[in-house]
Amino acid sequence: MPMINKIGGIISEVNHSLQQQHNKDSSSDLVYSLCQGMVYFKPPEQALQTLLQHQLMNSCNTLGSEFGFIHNYCEHDFGRRVVREKVKEKLRHINKLEQVDVVLTSGANQGFVSVLLSLCDVGDSCLLFGPYYFNHYMALQMFGVKPVIFDCHECDGYQPGCGHCDDMSRFTEFFENLMKQQENQRNKLKMVVVTTPCNPTGAVYTQYQIDTISQLCAKYGVWMVCDETYEYFIYNDTSVEQQQQPNATSTKTCYHYTPQGDHIIHLYSFSKAFSIPGWRLGYIAYPSSNTELALHLNKIQDTVVISSPVVSQQLAFCILDMEDFGKPWAEEKISTLKHNRKAIWEAIHDLCQLEKMPEGAIYYWATFPNFLNQEHVTMEKEFQVIEWLIRKHKVAVLPGSCFGKPGGFRISYANVSHQVCEIAASRLKSALQELANGQFEKDDLDQYVKTFKNMKF
Ligand SMILES: Cc1ncc(COP(=O)(O)O)c(C=O)c1O
Repeated sequence: MPMINKIGGIISEVNHSLQQQHNKDSSSDLVYSLCQGMVYFKPPEQALQTLLQHQLMNSCNTLGSEFGFIHNYCEHDFGRRVVREKVKEKLRHINKLEQVDVVLTSGANQGFVSVLLSLCDVGDSCLLFGPYYFNHYMALQMFGVKPVIFDCHECDGYQPGCGHCDDMSRFTEFFENLMKQQENQRNKLKMVVVTTPCNPTGAVYTQYQIDTISQLCAKYGVWMVCDETYEYFIYNDTSVEQQQQPNATSTKTCYHYTPQGDHIIHLYSFSKAFSIPGWRLGYIAYPSSNTELALHLNKIQDTVVISSPVVSQQLAFCILDMEDFGKPWAEEKISTLKHNRKAIWEAIHDLCQLEKMPEGAIYYWATFPNFLNQEHVTMEKEFQVIEWLIRKHKVAVLPGSCFGKPGGFRISYANVSHQVCEIAASRLKSALQELANGQFEKDDLDQYVKTFKNMKF
């Protein structure tokens, strides 16, 4: 992960020197970063106006106002009661989730850490689907929980089922073998993390796949943790040509499915769909019958953040107060991402030999053309390619090793405007062409690789 900061450092350094060389208006010369998982659109104006113009002044000044006094600690570590009730209403109507209680967290990442600390002891293990979301993996590392990775493959659309269909036998066998191996061990598999739509692959797991994972978890007493950060990010725009390919997933409409059960914990975020990552707000939905879990979550919440920021909770209330809890607003904005998604697809799919567009989230997952047939790619080589991309081609993506797969890379296509995305896509295409035709090896790397030249990995 510190490598990601290093990549940010290279981008700033290059942009700074470009700004010094040219006049300040030549922003089209700058490096375009397709690294961060954010969206380009603004948060809902209606909710912001309600908060800023009507509620904030009252809440700043009046102890007895409708929302309370925002300068104080929150009335409950789990968040304002009115907001939690509103979230529960959303969960009932949108996700069809009953009998859950809610903890408002400082983003879904804090939610994940709280759940991990509540469920696992040092030495326990946790199953992630690979390539995985790096913060999940890092949280496991930080708390001494062993990651068990179930690799998902491109030929399966990066879903846990085989061959673009619902054959879950490979996963079932993997899981049951793991259970057998752990029978006499003290530390066990405590949780399975399902991130769908997926960061970094964009895969959307089917209802059958999710139910199969859930049933296995229930059978063996393992928690299932569903990270539903991208619940509204589904496109259903796979082109007709792709659907006609022999191994395409069929023309079925794709949807996000939320499973239910006493062994399931759900994580949500306001960061992506409502474009407020800086306000740090997400929530955990956990089975309301589980008082022991509630106690653990409460202890962690009180020790780490006390509560999520009250003012952010208030904005979340205003968002959820919109039509259908803000879902139609979010879906309309998300549909505008199709343009970027298509621009990137057209630039990369041939060169990276991609089979099909992912159905959801805001990412493409691909392999650099020069690494396509290589079994083992060193991190050193991979980071050199990343730096060369930034310095020579003025475009940045995240390296696959951050997601457990050196040689791959993740493109985040939602964080730039359509216009910028078109330029970034064409830069990426030129770079991938050069990687494919061996130009990278011929280039003077002293000129393009400075930060990662002598780095020890
Ligand atoms: C799968 C997933 N979970 C959680 C997060 C973090 O969300 P938040 O900003 O709510 O902490 C991200 C952000 O990239 C993500 O991709």
